[in-house]
Amino acid sequence: MVCLGNICRSPLAEGILQSMTDPDKVLVDSAGTGGYHLGNRPDGRSIAVARKYGIDISAQRCRQFETADFDNFDLIYAMDHSNLDHLASLATSRKDREKLRLLLEEVPGLPSEVPDPYYGGEKGFERVFQLISSACEAISRNLDQKSRIHER
Ligand code: 4NP
Repeated sequence: MVCLGNICRSPLAEGILQSMTDPDKVLVDSAGTGGYHLGNRPDGRSIAVARKYGIDISAQRCRQFETADFDNFDLIYAMDHSNLDHLASLATSRKDREKLRLLLEEVPGLPSEVPDPYYGGEKGFERVFQLISSACEAISRNLDQKSRIHER
């Protein structure tokens, strides 16, 4: 899960998808394309909205996306077009590029981007939580389907 700062949107996406998947089967992580907040905990407003829905993201620490992530993960979800473009510029192969997705494209009818809530109020964080939750529900459903097909 990748956004710009790795303190608002992608920590929520990490926590939400983790809450919907089996940690023994699915490794979920997040990172930022920028390096402004390295080592910091998520924004207090993201921690608060996650807590409201029973998810604790306070132990997460900000890190920057690195090219090794292309090898370590099967799918890489960007929160917006700008992050997606940045990730595409770091890709060195077709295999890397094929791992890249826009998170909200998992759900038809949603806007294409998770809006950056950093300079807004708490309502923005609630909206971001809901958008990310919808996409993560779709992702976890698809993962379940795949594992069922695999088990047959
Ligand atoms: P995020 O939000 O990309 O969702 O973590 C931001 C956090 C910090 C900044 C920008 C966006 N910043 O410019 O410091």
